[in-house]
Amino acid sequence: MAAAGSAVGLGNIWKFPYVAGENGGGIFLIIYLVCVLLFGMPLVTTELVIGKRSRKSAYGAFRALRNNDRWQWLSWLCVVTAVLIMGFYFVVTGWCINYLAEAVMNAFKGFDAAQLTAHFQTVTTNTWRVILVSVIPVILTEVVLWFDVNKGIERLSKILMPLLLVMMVIMVVRVLLLDGSKVGLEFFFKTDFSQLSPKVVLVAMGQCFFSLSIGMGALITYGAYMPENQDVPMTSLQVVVLDTIVAVMAGMMIFPAVFAFGFNPAEGPELVFVVLPAIFEQMSFAWLSGVLFFTLLCIAALTSTISLMEVVVAFLVDATSHRPHPLDRRKSVLVTSAMAIALLLVCVLVPNTFDIFAEVTSCYLMPIGALAMSILVGWFLGNSFTTWYGKFFVFTIRWLVPIAIVLIFLNSLRLL
Ligand code: TRP
Repeated sequence: MAAAGSAVGLGNIWKFPYVAGENGGGIFLIIYLVCVLLFGMPLVTTELVIGKRSRKSAYGAFRALRNNDRWQWLSWLCVVTAVLIMGFYFVVTGWCINYLAEAVMNAFKGFDAAQLTAHFQTVTTNTWRVILVSVIPVILTEVVLWFDVNKGIERLSKILMPLLLVMMVIMVVRVLLLDGSKVGLEFFFKTDFSQLSPKVVLVAMGQCFFSLSIGMGALITYGAYMPENQDVPMTSLQVVVLDTIVAVMAGMMIFPAVFAFGFNPAEGPELVFVVLPAIFEQMSFAWLSGVLFFTLLCIAALTSTISLMEVVVAFLVDATSHRPHPLDRRKSVLVTSAMAIALLLVCVLVPNTFDIFAEVTSCYLMPIGALAMSILVGWFLGNSFTTWYGKFFVFTIRWLVPIAIVLIFLNSLRLL
């Protein structure tokens, strides 16, 4: 459940609809689902296995498994990826907090599509406001890690995440009752192969890595804490299925509304922020629905930022433990928060960095990390898997996963 909490986040509800909208809808969905089957299952398993066998975080795990330092660069790759993701993830979490506050104050009551789009611009171009609301989740995450209340958060998210799902089901039903919603369903579920391009495939692969939190060592930490007798493949399956259900539901809630209200599906990162308030307007208990949904969205985002920051914190503790000036957990939490704030400032203040960080991490760094991890487990530890599904798993990460990632890279560079 904790790993599912890490996986389910803004990647599902914010990013999935907007990248799907930018990349042709139905064709993106199909390729995304293929990526989830091809990469998701095997790679979630790979990371959990690395953690469970080494009982270490991303810093020590590769070294422990191989008894040498040759894989140490991979630990660095993981932590660099985590730091870059923190940069834009906190900004988007900040937007969520801003919208929650506005939902509480009923700020967008009666707004039409054009007004909602303009409103998003007003909010996000107000630099000080964005910085302020983005620092709030950094502090909240810091408090959770500082006081080690992860357990409490886990218990809380066990109640709240199912509630988020229920809320989404209600919203999907409401949205499907709108006039003109069928067009949106068609956009999302109808596969138009003429829209297929190397970029669509690359972005779908990146979205799969991002949404499942794979390729940057976050799940290694969860594997490290897994009880000895807990089943890895079953856990992976649960994480993957849950994450995918939430993403598909987000699409089913956003796209019918997009077409019913006359938004543009390729709107970009603002898509859900302009569409959601429009949906709440149509619901009974509009105020309550808006407040409840944005609250749950903020909590889903925070369970992801906790695990994201934890990667960096654990890295700093482990990497400095045998140095003259080791960082203890709390100092590492402070250093990590400082890095998060520095990176979010870069994202807010330097033009284009937001998009560059988002693209580079999902489309390149995470697939490269996953490629290396699949080779490590597939080729160096492969013989230790004896069950039939273990053997099938080894076959996929030895051959299918690395070859597919390389082909998608080559294809996107138009070298095929
Ligand atoms: N999977 C998270 C989401 O969908 C985002 C994420 C990417 C993440 N990489 C991560 C979360 C690593 C935790 C750890 O929102």
